[in-house]
Amino acid sequence: MPSESASPSSLEFVRIEFQSDLYRQAIALRHAVLRQPLGLAFSSTQIAAEHDQLHFGMLGGNALLACVSVMLVSPQKAKIRQMAVDATLQGRGIGSDLVSRVELELKTMGVQCIELHAREVARRFYERLGYAVTGEPFTEVTLPHIKMTKTIVTC
Ligand SMILES: CC(C)(COP(=O)(O)OP(=O)(O)OC[C@H]1O[C@@H](n2cnc3c(N)ncnc32)[C@H](O)[C@@H]1OP(=O)(O)O)[C@@H](O)C(=O)NCCC(=O)NCCS
Repeated sequence: MPSESASPSSLEFVRIEFQSDLYRQAIALRHAVLRQPLGLAFSSTQIAAEHDQLHFGMLGGNALLACVSVMLVSPQKAKIRQMAVDATLQGRGIGSDLVSRVELELKTMGVQCIELHAREVARRFYERLGYAVTGEPFTEVTLPHIKMTKTIVTC
């Protein structure tokens, strides 16, 4: 059960191993925040495709309150996907903190550029974090999306 007093500083940033208990919590959180409201569900094929991706989250006690996955497109480029914050805790800075910590993690791995497909409703959230729109709007999971990118290491 998420704590009403949860704030970024009270949470623990964690790496989540594929198919671990925390990963199963992440799937449940992603389903509740990103899929169920659209009447959609994750297929076993979609989950299996995540075995070589990176997964991160914010823990409050034993509860996973936010999560995100990262696909390494190349050694220098990563794609952030499946960003979700518990519906009762959105708008408190938890998502911003999670993205910032993931960016630091990716920098240490040599990643220089991050791309993502943002839901139009989340565009402002990513713009505040330094992401810029780089393409035309398109539809994904029935919703309007835009491609956004950010250079985290400049040469
Ligand atoms: C988008 C989301 C990841 C942002 O995380 P967060 O912890 O709520 O955001 P923060 O508190 O760090 O930042 C606040 C900003 O996020 C955005 N935001 C807040 N709640 C949001 C929501 N329910 N949906 C979309 N954006 C939201 C707003 O731009 C907000 O700034 P504002 O209040 O000045 O308008 C989170 O709200 C969420 O999971 N939303 C639903 C699922 C979603 O849209 N995921 C992104 C898919 S690309």
